[in-house]
Amino acid sequence: MRITFAASEGVPYSKTGGLADVVGALPKAVASLGHEVTVFLPRYRQTRLKQDRVAVANLTIPMQDHLLFCQIIDGDKHDGVQFYFVDHPEFGHREGLYGDSRGDYVDNAERFTMFCRAVIESSKRLGVPDVFHVHDWQTSLIPVLLRNAYASDADFSRCGTVLTIHNIGYQGLFPNSVMPKLLLPWSLFTMDRLEFYDKVNFLKGGIVYADYITTVSRTYAQEIQTYEYAFGLADTIRKRRDRIVGIVNGVDYGEWDPATDRHIPANFSATDLAGKARCKVALLKEYGIPEDKADWPVVGIISRFAAQKGFDLMEAALPQLLAEDMVLVVLGTGEKHYEQMFGKLHSRFPDRLCVKIAYDNRLAHMVEAGADIFLMPSHYEPCGLTQIYSMRYGTVPVVRATGGLEDTVEQWNPASEKGTGFKFAGYRPQELRTAMRQAISTFEEKEQWRQLMLNGMKQNFSWSAPAREYAAVYDKARALRVSA
Ligand code: ADP
Ligand code: GLC
Repeated sequence: MRITFAASEGVPYSKTGGLADVVGALPKAVASLGHEVTVFLPRYRQTRLKQDRVAVANLTIPMQDHLLFCQIIDGDKHDGVQFYFVDHPEFGHREGLYGDSRGDYVDNAERFTMFCRAVIESSKRLGVPDVFHVHDWQTSLIPVLLRNAYASDADFSRCGTVLTIHNIGYQGLFPNSVMPKLLLPWSLFTMDRLEFYDKVNFLKGGIVYADYITTVSRTYAQEIQTYEYAFGLADTIRKRRDRIVGIVNGVDYGEWDPATDRHIPANFSATDLAGKARCKVALLKEYGIPEDKADWPVVGIISRFAAQKGFDLMEAALPQLLAEDMVLVVLGTGEKHYEQMFGKLHSRFPDRLCVKIAYDNRLAHMVEAGADIFLMPSHYEPCGLTQIYSMRYGTVPVVRATGGLEDTVEQWNPASEKGTGFKFAGYRPQELRTAMRQAISTFEEKEQWRQLMLNGMKQNFSWSAPAREYAAVYDKARALRVSA
């Protein structure tokens, strides 16, 4: 089959979070199953291309009362996957992908509408796929457009659509004044289609019109059908419950494996753990933490600073924990409030808690490799990749049992010596502290800890199994259209 991915970010070209890791890895895994795979990404300022070969010189995209012009750059084939970049300098060449320090860009509706339409239009020239696989709100208009504006276009009549929801907390909500820009009729602005409390909701449109909807873990596929987790879209999701599939993300072990990692000072593996101690010393040095703390458990956090990740829980739970013998190193950027919160904690515990406010891939690898424990007490977590990476690096996750954290981490059982980490269920500081204390006391039992590390390191979250699950969904989406 021919599968075309459309997404707003993808490694190594652009990244703000786990979506980019998935878009960098899943297409390769799908291609290795024998499918013909194309990926469309926007071209941003941070996108590094070897050359500027033009695939489509000038696409005209009508936008309400004016025309936009963009070109498609041929990013070449890598690992069997053809990349194309939609290039519109005014929309793409900016400080951030979705916003800057002042907040989201005000023209995001136009930016991603143009992207979706450019993908559809250029596919007519570069190859119409059997299935479009779109991701999150930024590309959710593709299924909406195909079933409405393009409904009678013969090119797309047999073309299936799959939408993956990576995070239902981000929906692409815009004032209804954007409706005419979408070139969609006002008749779609109803409660059972794109309307959401008098606004236009891009993700809702995708959920309504995609042939199949996947999300990134089995537990999250259930959670988004509840009022607690769906950010107002539970009813919309439930109407499509027979078309929703949960597929747990995989890991690109070409990027995230301590045996081959280029970013860490010493390589190590399940059969030779020696290098991990060197990574720990290097991490403490990097964070300016005194070396005499090297015998203490070092806890790592790598995160977008967003409420989703459980920072209010950390704020309540950490002071008591930091009074005990542990070190915490934090890497993250995002909401100012959380940056300040860690700043204050650092002033209280200067040699135990250090923070780097940065987006730094090398440092992310250093933390995965050098820490003993990885903390991720998310309020909700569709999948989460960092806890899966940490297991491969022998860094034991402590997580709240939600979404993909529930599906990927198995509670340690000291009697059977099975399990890969520590989980707690209730979103309460006391529960987080109890799980952390379990982890820290197990850390003191060196033999048990070694077994726990090895259990995690031996897990296999490669993309090959999830890629086959996606291929099965593509088959079904395609079959729906062919039989229609
Ligand atoms: P989410 O997508 O919700 O942010 P994931 O765990 O799925 O969470 O993926 C996060 C990805 O972003 C990981 O690859 C992680 O290493 C990376 N990341 C997050 N924060 C930073 C940071 N400050 N610097 C470098 N990489 C980061
Ligand atoms: C989102 C989610 C995260 C998931 C990632 C990749 O950013 O917050 O849990 O791992 O997408 O699917």
